[in-house]
Amino acid sequence: MKLLHINASIMGDKSVTRQLSQDIVDHYINENPSAQVITYDLDKNPIPFLSSASFTDKTEQAIAEKTLNDFLESDIIVIGTPMYNFGIPAQLKAWVDRISVAGTTFKYTENGPQGLITDKKIVIASSRGSAYGPETAHLDHQEKHLQSVFGLFGLTGDAVQIIRAEGVNLAPDAAEKEIAKARTKIPALA
Ligand SMILES: Cc1cc2nc3c(=O)[nH]c(=O)nc-3n(C[C@H](O)[C@H](O)[C@H](O)COP(=O)(O)O)c2cc1C
Repeated sequence: MKLLHINASIMGDKSVTRQLSQDIVDHYINENPSAQVITYDLDKNPIPFLSSASFTDKTEQAIAEKTLNDFLESDIIVIGTPMYNFGIPAQLKAWVDRISVAGTTFKYTENGPQGLITDKKIVIASSRGSAYGPETAHLDHQEKHLQSVFGLFGLTGDAVQIIRAEGVNLAPDAAEKEIAKARTKIPALA
């Protein structure tokens, strides 16, 4: 079993999503001690943004190929991502741009796009300072964005699971409470 562990928060050890994503990885390693884990710290080692150089730069192309292959070869992908300005961090978007490859993770057909990935599990450790209930759900371009991308690949429903700590900045003790609440949901992850 191969597990890809990705973190995007800029907050280092204080990060809510880094703590939660590590707990999620530990959960899967407990279940499968021989699991091979590949870790991407997109804060310390950012992936280059797509640009005109992407068509010619050999170093960048090698990074792009490895990034895509690591995704394709993994059975479980655990992503720690905060909400930044209603969306995902730019460094995580740079990763998304490398795995969204027409002809590999999805294809265009006469009937619209079709997913080409069937055998993966995605677990998102999500955190946001505010809370996004029914009244403000339309502002969520973080979890919804990732669900859209993985849905494009064919990963829908239970294939994408979310462990969420939200409203963490709404009160002084909110983060601690939300992390504790989110942790109780990890043992039930399939
Ligand atoms: C640059 C930046 C932008 C943020 N934008 C939002 C936002 O749009 N909505 C929100 O609810 N929280 C926002 N937050 C708060 C974070 O989502 C929240 O603190 C989260 O717990 C961070 O996760 P982390 O601790 O793993 O870094 C932002 C924080 C930062 C640093």
